[in-house]
Amino acid sequence: MHQLSLVGGVVGSARTSPASNHLPFISANLEDADSRSGLIARSGAEVVLHAAAVASIEACATDPVLARIVNVDAAADLARQAKAEGAKFIYVSTDAVFNGRRGNYLEEDPTSPTSEYGRTKVSGERAVLDANPEAMVARVNFYGWSPSGRRSLAEFFYHRLLQGEQTPGFTDVTVSTLQVGYLVEALVALASLEARGIVHVASSEPTTKFDFGRRLADEFGLDANLVVPGRSTDHLVHDRGSSLSLNTNLATKLLGTPMARQRSGLHRLYEELNQALPATLRRLSITTGN
Ligand SMILES: NC(=O)c1ccc[n+]([C@@H]2O[C@H](COP(=O)([O-])OP(=O)(O)OC[C@H]3O[C@@H](n4cnc5c(N)ncnc54)[C@H](OP(=O)(O)O)[C@@H]3O)[C@@H](O)[C@H]2O)c1
Repeated sequence: MHQLSLVGGVVGSARTSPASNHLPFISANLEDADSRSGLIARSGAEVVLHAAAVASIEACATDPVLARIVNVDAAADLARQAKAEGAKFIYVSTDAVFNGRRGNYLEEDPTSPTSEYGRTKVSGERAVLDANPEAMVARVNFYGWSPSGRRSLAEFFYHRLLQGEQTPGFTDVTVSTLQVGYLVEALVALASLEARGIVHVASSEPTTKFDFGRRLADEFGLDANLVVPGRSTDHLVHDRGSSLSLNTNLATKLLGTPMARQRSGLHRLYEELNQALPATLRRLSITTGN
């Protein structure tokens, strides 16, 4: 889903149609310039949240041409359309624009991507801001419930711990991951504040993946001892960098309040489970198309 209109409600857009017709929806394949043509005008959106991307390191390495079309060209096209329509444009970017050697990155720090994914997102950021200087680039790292149940770090730990499976948590990777509800609220607030340029929208409390897994277990009443220390180099083919934390001082200043800490995020995630959000998402989920 890559659009959000705040005043008249939410209009969703993705390449496949949702199983449910709960939301007004426009189907578009961003690889295809014809499919993108007039998309923002048709949506009537006042704020465009552009999150669609070739979003995995592996997929971008396998097909860098496609990754560039979607993450750079399509993003710039939509940013240009948003400018023409007078809509606010938010490009969802990533902590992977940094190499992860230092951490606590500021918005103005030089980018240093180590993957094709990170390189396309850096190019996407620049292309969006060139096409639409009033756009906002939100660098994020987030978790939450997803229709497949397999998308986020939190779901990875939750499902394994629920099955009683011993699960490695990386002690050598630190991220500022933010619960997605807090992310969306911050993005909506920043859009209404007319924030522009690059903003790090992340948790104010960086955590190792190991600590995140243990805290999730505690919050969910699962066995924290099942989360065992692991090293990313023993499990991952592609180096993602180890210190990927994002400094959130700018977001704090703009929003007038600090970004959420890990305990609040995990508590919100637990409450969403009790409200059956994962089941609701499955019911509303987008059908698999191409
Ligand atoms: N998850 C994180 O912690 C994280 C961290 C940093 C940045 N981000 C950024 O956040 C955004 C969302 O990431 P995610 O983790 O939620 O990734 P995801 O689950 O892979 O979602 C990406 C979405 O983009 C859509 N998409 C891909 N190619 C498309 C195309 N040609 N036309 C239309 N839609 C297309 C996908 O649709 P299909 O389902 O049809 O393939 C999918 O819904 C991305 O911009 C990513 O770079 C995420």
